[in-house]
Amino acid sequence: MSEFIEIYGGRTLRGTVQISGAKNAALPMLIASLLTSEPCVFSNIPNLEDVNLTLSLLENFGANTSYSSGAEHGAQVTVAVPALAASEASYSLVKALRASFWVLAPLLARGRAARVALPGGDIIGARPVDLHLAALTQMGAEIRVKHGTVLANAVNGLRPADIVLRFPSVGATHQIMMAAALTPGTTTIKGAAREPEVVALASMLSAMGADIEGAGSDLIAISGAESLGGVTHNLIGDRIEAGTYLLAAAASAGEVTAQGIDPKFFGSFLEILDQMGIRVETTSNSISINAPDRLRPVHLSTAPFPGLATDLQALLMAVLTLADGESTIEENVFEGRFGHVAELCRMGAQIRVEDRVATVVGVPSLSGAEVEALDIRAGAALVIAGIAAQGTTTIHEPHHLRRGYEALELKLQGLGAQIGRKISDADDFAFSGC
Ligand code: UD1
Repeated sequence: MSEFIEIYGGRTLRGTVQISGAKNAALPMLIASLLTSEPCVFSNIPNLEDVNLTLSLLENFGANTSYSSGAEHGAQVTVAVPALAASEASYSLVKALRASFWVLAPLLARGRAARVALPGGDIIGARPVDLHLAALTQMGAEIRVKHGTVLANAVNGLRPADIVLRFPSVGATHQIMMAAALTPGTTTIKGAAREPEVVALASMLSAMGADIEGAGSDLIAISGAESLGGVTHNLIGDRIEAGTYLLAAAASAGEVTAQGIDPKFFGSFLEILDQMGIRVETTSNSISINAPDRLRPVHLSTAPFPGLATDLQALLMAVLTLADGESTIEENVFEGRFGHVAELCRMGAQIRVEDRVATVVGVPSLSGAEVEALDIRAGAALVIAGIAAQGTTTIHEPHHLRRGYEALELKLQGLGAQIGRKISDADDFAFSGC
């Protein structure tokens, strides 16, 4: 029995879509609950596979977790870790969810020892963790890597340090902030990541009792405390989810409002929409777009925030396959992040890749085809292409989408898309929405 998503393309998307809480803020913040024995209460948590995996991961370390569906949007989740019950994150945990590796810092800071499997590479690139390990070593941890596992201890506790990141890694910045928040003294990070999710984690750690300055800039100073307290935190909206619905609307010459998202989270993305000929209007909590029949081609490069997010690259490429001319997209964050190209070409897109640059020659229309989602954003790019394409698109391996999109089909149906999930066993035909 296999599951797939089917889309009947060619419908114009219109309407308003409510954006869920940000997956990439939820994961580090849930993990930061390991830093305190007091309960941490989060609202606007999205119902996603990656969130469920994170909660199971935390339970492995002694967390009591409770989950209640929110009144209107998102769930409320409480995590309490009265005492650390384990210090090891196995390969199967880290393989299932790369962000599991981020438990290293809180386990070290609170429990003074950790064994965490190396995450290894994936479909989008090699994804080393050298910056994480170098920073924690500078903070006094003794770290060895043996048989694919990081063995770390800090018998006398961690110490503050002045850390310089050669690349503004989001994960390394999260880890250092978590370690430093529970380390008395001031740790600085030069070359820190500036993403909104880093600012969100800093605000949680500040509410727990650390003193953090500069989050959102490339120089963060964290004055840590002997112990941290519990917190109540409302999650920010998911900028990549919002970008997905806006780009699906753009690909279908539609008119859509994404509600529950701060436009400041987008860096250069909204200017790019403007260059493509899309009319953009914002309020403090929403973005509306109105797209023309044919978009203008553009030349893009992904970069750390406030540059264009690499997580939007595949989605923009799907839209640019239909632009009126030749676009280029340079991928500067993850070297292997072009897996979606071959699938888009199956739908009639004209794309060639040389090294880190994809050249996209716009075509008048795409045609529906059978394609495979290789990861979350590659899958979302195919959803966008399928909405714009003529005919039926079948997306295999849709489980990737459940990792990052809450109620994807329902939200798109609400905007007028014909999309549903099917199970291939004829007796178990669970098609909804068309
Ligand atoms: C996070 C996001 C991911 C997003 C990425 C970049 C989550 C759960 N994931 O991933 O969706 O695409 O940020 O915005 O929030 N690097 C090193 N050494 C290191 C660490 C990173 O060389 O020790 C390199 C990576 O290989 C990559 C680049 O730095 O080329 C960016 O990685 P990083 O910012 O760390 O991404 P993640 O935190 O893994």
